[in-house]
Amino acid sequence: MAFTIAIDGPAAAGKGTLSKGIAAHFGFGHLDTGLLYRAVGWRMLSGEDPIEAARGLMPEDLDRADLRTPEVAQAASKVAVIAEVRAALVDFQRAFARRAGGAVLDGRDIGTVICPDAEAKLFVTASAEVRAERRYLELTGKGQIVTLDQVLADVRARDERDMNRAEAPLKPAEDAVMIDTSKLDIDAALGVAIAAIRTKM
Ligand code: C5P
Repeated sequence: MAFTIAIDGPAAAGKGTLSKGIAAHFGFGHLDTGLLYRAVGWRMLSGEDPIEAARGLMPEDLDRADLRTPEVAQAASKVAVIAEVRAALVDFQRAFARRAGGAVLDGRDIGTVICPDAEAKLFVTASAEVRAERRYLELTGKGQIVTLDQVLADVRARDERDMNRAEAPLKPAEDAVMIDTSKLDIDAALGVAIAAIRTKM
């Protein structure tokens, strides 16, 4: 049986960790759709046309180790405003969403555009300061040299671009359950999310 869980929200709100935890809890597959845009952004930084890159995206493009840098994140949010790039990535995401055994997809437009009929939808947020601090700890923990101010500016620039674009802007679906993780640790957020999803099963 296919059961789709759509998880949207801004950068560094905790979607990734939460999605992995939810997928593990229910035994579902998980697709981090940001990786698709990051892979296209990476290929644009290497000189490729982003539309061609999106149309020719290969599964192995998602396994690159260097997709998690701030430069690639910014490039991802730039290619993500291009309608043809978004269109080229739709079928892959929808096929994943309907896979047998259940699927968790996290991104910006899963509940609104990719899977408007998802059985469960969550919108995960936190204040920009909390998100920047989490991302700062994550990046410095991996040995990257960044300042908190840089990360905050990066988070705000991406929020701005993601919320104000014409194509599939970041916004909660009308039927999404809102989860603010500013004051929740991961276990608490996971508990809230799993309880919300269970009511749809
Ligand atoms: O989630 P992540 O931070 O990896 O996403 C990188 C960028 O990709 C986002 O800032 C956003 O511009 C874009 N994106 C998107 N739609 C999605 C997932 C990501 O536009 N479903």
